[in-house]
Amino acid sequence: MSRDASRRLFLSMTSLMGAGLVWGETAGAAPPSRGKEKKEKSEPAEVNATEDLMREHGVIRRTLLVYEACASQLGTGSPPRADVLASAANLIRRFAENYHERLEEEQVFPRLEKAGKQGELIRVLREQHAAGRKLTDGILKSATPVALQDAGRRQALASSLQAFVRMYQPHAAREDTELFPAFHALFAEAEFHELGERFEEQEHQILGAGGFESAVAEVAQLETAVGIHDLAAFTAR
Ligand SMILES: [Fe+2]
Ligand SMILES: [Fe+2]
Repeated sequence: MSRDASRRLFLSMTSLMGAGLVWGETAGAAPPSRGKEKKEKSEPAEVNATEDLMREHGVIRRTLLVYEACASQLGTGSPPRADVLASAANLIRRFAENYHERLEEEQVFPRLEKAGKQGELIRVLREQHAAGRKLTDGILKSATPVALQDAGRRQALASSLQAFVRMYQPHAAREDTELFPAFHALFAEAEFHELGERFEEQEHQILGAGGFESAVAEVAQLETAVGIHDLAAFTAR
């Protein structure tokens, strides 16, 4: 490395050190105290609008895993409890359909449509929201102890759960990778930050103060109820 090049490297490293961004590769090396103090005093970074929608997809995907477990248990001699099924379907209704999808339909889709972007994708996404709501109506009707005693209804319920999972996996994946990046690109940073705050307010209005955190706790209970709570059990052997 030339003398000039190593001087430039040294200067850029020291400026990063000053900003508390690099603190060497030594194992266990502590960051410079100035950076640490700054972090302790400042507020944690806020969740932006699309990150918010994506972590909501995380809750929905975990509920889909509960749906999958219920669907396969419905075909065995020990079907899932009706109250567990009803709670999972109610979480989809309350959190996914009445909150998350409504937010997409009221705040995300119209802005993109107005900008002439992602029209065809949004048309399909809207259709899937409607199809999902119909499936949830049926799932809620069949999630009763009486209905679960009937073999035909158990089979129909398993099919509805599978159809919901099959539709929602690609739905959320397209939103994460195509819709939300296109949505983010419509905004200047300050405007996007403000939108994130509005999303947060809407979350608390519709879901209550616990909002996202309560939904995570709820889905964790459902995972325990159907025996899929141990993440390590999913590790490939
Ligand atoms: Fe959606
Ligand atoms: Fe979504």
